Amino acid sequence: MTDVKISQLRKSYGIQTALHGLDIEMESGEFVVLVGPSGCGKSTLLRMIAGLESITSGTIAFAGRVVNNIAAKDRDIAMVFQNYALYPHMTVRENMGFSLKLRDVGEAERNASVEAAAKSLGLGHLLDRYPRQLSGGQRQRVAMGRAVVRKPALFLFDEPLSNLDAKLRVQMRTEIKQMHKRVKATMIYVTHDQVEAMTMGDRIVVMRDGRVEQVGKPIELYDRPVNEFVAGFLGSPSMNFIEGTLGEDRQSVVLSDGSRVYLPCAVGGAAGQPVKLGLRPEELQPSDRGLSFEIDVIEPTGAETIVMLRNPALIGEASLCLLLRERYDLSPGQAITIAPKPGSGHVFDAESGNRLLPDRVVEIAKVALR
Ligand SMILES: Nc1ncnc2c1ncn2[C@@H]1O[C@H](COP(=O)(O)OP(=O)(O)O)[C@@H](O)[C@H]1O
Ligand SMILES: [Mg+2]
Repeated sequence: MTDVKISQLRKSYGIQTALHGLDIEMESGEFVVLVGPSGCGKSTLLRMIAGLESITSGTIAFAGRVVNNIAAKDRDIAMVFQNYALYPHMTVRENMGFSLKLRDVGEAERNASVEAAAKSLGLGHLLDRYPRQLSGGQRQRVAMGRAVVRKPALFLFDEPLSNLDAKLRVQMRTEIKQMHKRVKATMIYVTHDQVEAMTMGDRIVVMRDGRVEQVGKPIELYDRPVNEFVAGFLGSPSMNFIEGTLGEDRQSVVLSDGSRVYLPCAVGGAAGQPVKLGLRPEELQPSDRGLSFEIDVIEPTGAETIVMLRNPALIGEASLCLLLRERYDLSPGQAITIAPKPGSGHVFDAESGNRLLPDRVVEIAKVALR
């Protein structure tokens, strides 16, 4: 296994800078997800780690050894891409065993490795097929199997599930996590999909425009996003933002219609400071007292109901999204009063988007399972 340390890593393409001096540390055996919108530099970073892209400045080290000048083939990594990149003229068995063949591993040992990997990925009955005779999901499994067979110190994934349909994506998410448990290698996984990031990552690195916005465990990022960008990026449906000013008690936000929303604790900031109040859809509930809206659209999914609300005086033409797990008798056009659930609410500086931190850091109580 291998830990990865990225220090002051920069990448420029001519005058355009794709990565602005990144510092990221990944522990040995960790599953780290790099997530961010398209074009933020995820693939560039992964390709630099792989040795497929030159480094403008800064260093990448594996297990304490700087690999800047080590060729891709000597870095002991395996990479899985979105487009599988299987050899069309080779069977599944030959595709999966190819890297071992290049290393002069004998046929018996090669077959044993390939068969073990194929079995764990449910490919055992497909070993003699060609890629064109496989479904998209099966091809992606072969690409993963080919990586597993090499027993690399580091696995790199670049949006491996993007070509699969929604149901298969969910299934493959679980399979990749199970594979991570089995092979116990360090894995770096790139995706633009925040649900994949939240569900798969031991830790998540959120990137934007070639910079790291925040690094942490999924729930840490969800509960304590450092800024409006991270807050809005993680979570589906995404966080609602309502403009207002910080109350004189610094423990409430005054909205444009004069109504006031109380926060779980006082935050660092000046009374009257323009802020954005962030409320996740599941942190809102119907209430006797609170903010008044009109129901615009209702989307029941069975397990939960998404309700879109309007109030031009409060949020202009935007909608406020509510996620209800209980069932209510609601219909479009109806008036509704809602309030945040106790303990919820995030406040961001309106200009910088940075989170206003609590005066006292309130630790979220962790319930022990034992
Ligand atoms: N070979 C290249 N030449 C010039 N610009 C590039 C090249 N590869 C990537 N870029 C630019 O670098 C930025 C990051 O790209 P990329 O790493 O592919 O983003 P992501 O994978 O997050 O979608 C983009 O602005 C992209 O246009
Ligand atoms: Mg990419």
